[in-house]
Amino acid sequence: MAAPHKLEELKGALEALQEIGSIGDIEAENGIIHHVSMGTRTLGRLTAERLDANDAEALFDFYAEGLSEKARRLFAPYPLFHTPPHSADELARRIEDWKKEDDWTAMNLVKDKRIIGFALLKRFRTEQVTSGIAVRDAFHRMGLGSLLQHIIIGQARLLDLERFHVKVVSDNMASIRLHEKCGFKCTRILPPMYEEILEYLGECDRKNGNEPVDRQNVEMVIELNVKSETTKSFTIEDFDEAFGAGKGEVSALCGKLIKSLNFEYCDCSQETRETILLDALRKCDSAELSVSGPHRLDDWRRGWGEILQEFHALGGNVKALVPKDLHGGRPLRYKGDYIMPISSSFEHDFAMVFRHWLYKKYFHNFKNIYEFGCGTGQNLAVMAELFPDKRLFGLDWVPESQELLSSLSRMYGWPIEGIRFDAFNPDYTLDILPESLVYTSCALEQLGSAYENFLGYLLAKRPSLCVNVECLAEYYDENKLFDYAALKYHRKRNYLDGFLTRLREMEREKAIEIVATRRTGFGSLYHEGYMYVIWKIL
Ligand SMILES: C[S@@+](CC[C@H](N)C(=O)[O-])C[C@H]1O[C@@H](n2cnc3c(N)ncnc32)[C@H](O)[C@@H]1O
Repeated sequence: MAAPHKLEELKGALEALQEIGSIGDIEAENGIIHHVSMGTRTLGRLTAERLDANDAEALFDFYAEGLSEKARRLFAPYPLFHTPPHSADELARRIEDWKKEDDWTAMNLVKDKRIIGFALLKRFRTEQVTSGIAVRDAFHRMGLGSLLQHIIIGQARLLDLERFHVKVVSDNMASIRLHEKCGFKCTRILPPMYEEILEYLGECDRKNGNEPVDRQNVEMVIELNVKSETTKSFTIEDFDEAFGAGKGEVSALCGKLIKSLNFEYCDCSQETRETILLDALRKCDSAELSVSGPHRLDDWRRGWGEILQEFHALGGNVKALVPKDLHGGRPLRYKGDYIMPISSSFEHDFAMVFRHWLYKKYFHNFKNIYEFGCGTGQNLAVMAELFPDKRLFGLDWVPESQELLSSLSRMYGWPIEGIRFDAFNPDYTLDILPESLVYTSCALEQLGSAYENFLGYLLAKRPSLCVNVECLAEYYDENKLFDYAALKYHRKRNYLDGFLTRLREMEREKAIEIVATRRTGFGSLYHEGYMYVIWKIL
């Protein structure tokens, strides 16, 4: 007999889902769910049925016909699909063989006798309990993934499990969000043992004419009965310290924003730290990292071209402006160690708080802001909201950037002007207006050691203040492994080299004054792009 209150809990959890109209019977025996019937809002009546060898034909159809190749590659749980079954008979044999073990269960989600979703919970008598779900391609975006995962969570509760995990690819945001919504948290980046799928996804990127996305396999865990005591959260004081702000400053400038976001995280274990460091060093030794320089113009055009299309497809939604490499679900750098954020938008949210603080503190005195290497215009959009009266100029060598800016200006009425500008070969006919601030954010990084031409242009045009939010290699301590790995990555990518040293030299020569500079201590998995130097020409 299954504990009745746990079946009631499962019923309540399923009924709370948007797609569910009502839940009928839930049948369970010896702690294993056999049948759930439900009325849904868009798909009518569905049932979830425990898998049996008689279902092999329908399950084979689901796998072979219902899932795209990519979905099949991503869904390869042992022992049913770890190598692709070639026939329904082979699948039936695998199910029969698996029946000899007693630490697994699997459910089919059925509509009109056809399997439209499948979920399993396995190794539930071991420490390594894991689940996997898949939904027929034609039934995506209907809430069925959440439905199946909630059934599996209910199943795990019936079995009195304390936790179980799923493995997710770090840029599969749909899956990460689905699991976050169900209560899973990212706990660690997995050691390189599921490389095949990453290689396959890299090949898909290449086939689509893109650079392979930097992705990892990530473990997400749901704690079912115990409340985690290890979860921490960034406090206002942590932001003060990171930004180098005076006491109360961050609270006054961005307190409300911080309160509206989730800055919870867990420390990474020693094992995870070693895995990340090894992975970072291996990456640097491989040929997969792109190297910045004048040859990369077409890559940037392609990237921003895709964002331009997406921006219009979403009806001009500014969320589309966030570059794709800012995806969550993986560890971040903080104060000399790796942390695992709870929210998948942690880095994006940190960057947003940082921008608000920086812009409100340093930008308000100037009539015109020039952002060089402005990309999609995500920073200019924030400035336009904060300072409706300022003139904003976005400069980039990519024409798609100017198209994005003119769309932003047309659709939102923001005073933003896009100008094509190549920082390797500055155009001296472009003047900088009086009372102007020049800003760069992760843009000088792309110049490597070839920043002298751009610096010469700024010295000639004499803006009132320069604010560079860049990865400043001088702040890394080569004698610490954590920094050594970041520096190696930085150099391998040919990022900004020697800029802060050059500014310090110019300060000694009384050509400029450095107003403020800092390493915030926060960064993405491989390096820290939230360092800054603020300086003025004397
Ligand atoms: C990492 S993106 C940063 C974009 C933007 N600043 C942001 O924070 O979202 C780097 C930007 O620098 C631009 N860039 C690279 N080399 C450049 C050059 N030589 N002249 C002007 N822009 C350049 C790229 O096109 C891209 O938009």
